[in-house]
Amino acid sequence: MKTKAAVMYEPNKPLQIEEFDLEGPQQGEVLVKYSASGICHSDYSILTGVMDLGPSPMILGHEGAGIIEEVGPGVTELAPGDHVVAVLTPSCGKCVMCQEEKPFMCSQMARLMGTGKMLDGTTRFSRNGEPVYHMAALGTFSERSVVQAGSVVKVKHDAPLDTVCLVGCGVTTGVGAAVNTAKVHAGSSVAVIGCGGVGLSIIQGARINGASTIIAVDPVPEKRELAMQLGATHGVDPFAEGGPIKQVKALTGGLGVHYAFEALGRIDTTEQTWSMIRPAGRAIIVGMTDQSEKIKLKVTGLLSEKRIKGSGYGSAVPKRDVPRFVDWYLSGELKLDEMITKRIKLEDINQAFDEMARGEGARSVIMYD
Ligand SMILES: NC(=O)c1ccc[n+]([C@@H]2O[C@H](COP(=O)([O-])OP(=O)(O)OC[C@H]3O[C@@H](n4cnc5c(N)ncnc54)[C@H](O)[C@@H]3O)[C@@H](O)[C@H]2O)c1
Ligand SMILES: [Zn+2]
Ligand SMILES: [Zn+2]
Repeated sequence: MKTKAAVMYEPNKPLQIEEFDLEGPQQGEVLVKYSASGICHSDYSILTGVMDLGPSPMILGHEGAGIIEEVGPGVTELAPGDHVVAVLTPSCGKCVMCQEEKPFMCSQMARLMGTGKMLDGTTRFSRNGEPVYHMAALGTFSERSVVQAGSVVKVKHDAPLDTVCLVGCGVTTGVGAAVNTAKVHAGSSVAVIGCGGVGLSIIQGARINGASTIIAVDPVPEKRELAMQLGATHGVDPFAEGGPIKQVKALTGGLGVHYAFEALGRIDTTEQTWSMIRPAGRAIIVGMTDQSEKIKLKVTGLLSEKRIKGSGYGSAVPKRDVPRFVDWYLSGELKLDEMITKRIKLEDINQAFDEMARGEGARSVIMYD
């Protein structure tokens, strides 16, 4: 069959919208017709060459939701007509990390992420007989895709797919970082650096867990305003007088916050988290920086028992967390509609990346017919 998709031929060039051949699902795979896909900063990081997730041409996109059209041999838990959210890990259930109940570190995920191929080492997309790769073996910037059965999670039919698609990456990453990785406690203080889709989700997770001070750090005034609507108690412009560390400390009696999250993907802001937490506080790094970079931290922080921890995919167990976060949305606790700034056509994707580069809007969502 044919499918229209946005493909990257090389970094720093606009994505091309073209038609590709798509083979049907094989053993343990499913065919998904995507209803919608969010655009995440990680797509932008691949596009700008900051992150390398396999060879080109590559169909990007990893924050999608849709409907199963066909299942391959051996797939028993999913059937045509099921509504699903695509997730970053195939949760193979067999590797050491899955057996230790850490599917967000599934060894097969690393394989899919690094190769742009299916687990059997081949691709389902092609053009003129040549392979076309897909990001995280999801490729949600395509009308249809074939994915590993474990890479989608079934959701209720009354959950709007063009909104809960955000749960596929940004929301699970952010809410999960707050409620799973950090386990933010009631009455605590939290700072979030970077208030895009991921940072706004961290803010919501912190609110849901009962944090009493939530400081949104972002240079864009509209982002700080949106953060306040979603649960932040204070907004800080990092470029204002004093800089981010002094301002965050001033809002917490000079001591610093219990938890500081980096949700942007830069070295300087990663280092800032360490300086804005209080003794015994926790710095949680969610943003993806250039993986060859190094960070520098003051050793005095170690003596005051500060801790720094990365958060991969919100420490999520997708089968538990995706339906849970969708339920939080349906009950009104988790606000997703507010996070969607624009709904666009696939053809407008390059413009959406330009807006992301300028820090405009929270999430753009591609709508398929
Ligand atoms: N750890 C994971 O598993 C995981 C998963 C998904 C995404 N990510 C990463 O999370 C990060 C955030 O993704 P996103 O989609 O929310 O990005 P985004 O581009 O939507 O948001 C980034 C925000 O940072 C703000 N910003 C820019 N400069 C700033 C500064 N100096 N200080 C504070 N804020 C500043 C921007 O205005 C914007 O609001 C990215 O690095 C992405 O790759 C990580
Ligand atoms: Zn993402
Ligand atoms: Zn596994």
